[in-house]
Amino acid sequence: MAAGLGTRMKSKRAKVLHELGGLPLIAHVLRAAKPLNPRGIFVIVGHQANEVEQASLNEVGDLAHFVMQKEQRGTGDAVASARDALAASDSLVVILSGDVPMIRSSTLETLIEQHRNERADCTILSVRLNNPAAYGRIVRNESGEFQKIVEQRDASEDERQIREINSGIYCFDSKKLFDAVGQLKPVNDQSEYYLTDVAEIMLRAGSKVSVYLHNDPREVFGVNTRAELAEFENLLRRNTIRRLMTEAGVTFIDPSHAYVSADAQIGPDTVIYPDVSIEGACVIGEGCVIRAGARITNSRLGNNVIVKDHSIVIDSEIGTNCSVGPFAHLRMNARLDEGAVVGNFVEVKKSRIGRKTKAMHLTYLGDATIGERTNIGAGTITCNYDGKNKHETLIDDDVKIGSDTMLVAPVRVGKGAMTGAGSVVTKDVPENSLVAGVPARILKKLNKSESGS
Ligand code: UD1
Ligand code: CA
Repeated sequence: MAAGLGTRMKSKRAKVLHELGGLPLIAHVLRAAKPLNPRGIFVIVGHQANEVEQASLNEVGDLAHFVMQKEQRGTGDAVASARDALAASDSLVVILSGDVPMIRSSTLETLIEQHRNERADCTILSVRLNNPAAYGRIVRNESGEFQKIVEQRDASEDERQIREINSGIYCFDSKKLFDAVGQLKPVNDQSEYYLTDVAEIMLRAGSKVSVYLHNDPREVFGVNTRAELAEFENLLRRNTIRRLMTEAGVTFIDPSHAYVSADAQIGPDTVIYPDVSIEGACVIGEGCVIRAGARITNSRLGNNVIVKDHSIVIDSEIGTNCSVGPFAHLRMNARLDEGAVVGNFVEVKKSRIGRKTKAMHLTYLGDATIGERTNIGAGTITCNYDGKNKHETLIDDDVKIGSDTMLVAPVRVGKGAMTGAGSVVTKDVPENSLVAGVPARILKKLNKSESGS
């Protein structure tokens, strides 16, 4: 069920699109459902249907089917809109809430197992909470048998004392489910069709309703407000960081001030300083050091990489033994080969920097391909944009680019060449030659000892 707006979020964005650990809530739920090997996952969409569909496809591909709930008239109405898609098949249906993101596959497996073992027609996943807050309560009779679910707002004073709550996750026999859904009436405080009423209807009709009381309440917390979302973020982050410390051997100088996506892979003996953010599907090697304030998003780092303070690395790749920063910015498929160094206030966009090449200070490298062992002097700029188009700069191996060189692209600098400080290079530079001036002219051919190649 993912059609609701989520009024309590006070947002223009549908609740299930709000992100937890960098992934939309709906993706977490689908990720839990997928390992059950279902015949299909039917996502009930309504608010921002296109975006919710896209987020679902990103997570489970063509396992996802979509059902439109045009008007959001409650969870019972949501399920009713899947009637055509599901009622005909005589199968077992697991219903999940798009806003209950921490649920684990293994818990769903246990739910299904109990449902099958007890030959139930409906099995409700419940937990006990010290503070049952706004959840629906599981009402039982004196002998402990399930009677009904009552929503907090419709509950009597006595019922509100009940600590066993409905998780919003259920297992059903599809035929019996849709029979009961057809009998729902919107007679409650919200005038909505409540899926929760289905259990009582089924019980009256002589069906078997069972409850699986799960022992880990944290798995079934629902996200209804931004405050709850922030609590979840904290919980998820703590779990991720603990796992990385205990299983992967990663050091966190201050685990309470590191932000690591659940998808990140980090190798042993890597050290993460405070206020580091690692977002998306990053792969970070062994023995790396990520200093304070760095942000690394969807990037790969080899082994023994140092990312110094306040550097930003987005959609990029950094080879083994490289050093980046402080205050460096790598983006749009920047690639550093083994041992390259990108230093203070250097921006690298869509460029490849060869082995052991250095750009230490105050430089912009965009749309450039740079060879090995080249040195890029302080203040160098690839002038890649002519106001309309982007152009490429090619710099070969063993080149020395003098400080404050402007490379007006498209331009090539040959192997072993040098540019003088302050040059504006507008024409290709032949190999082993020294150019200087504005615009740069060839001053001389370099001999072996001068050219460094
Ligand atoms: C629901 C349950 C409550 C349970 C709680 C657990 C009902 C009536 N109540 O309450 O017993 O304790 O979940 O988290 O079911 N949705 C639709 N279409 C709609 C309405 C909702 O698709 O017309 C979707 C929402 O997008 C959401 C999910 O269903 O993902 C749950 O809806 P929500 O309004 O959050 O239900 P709760 O009030 O939390
Ligand atoms: Ca909810």
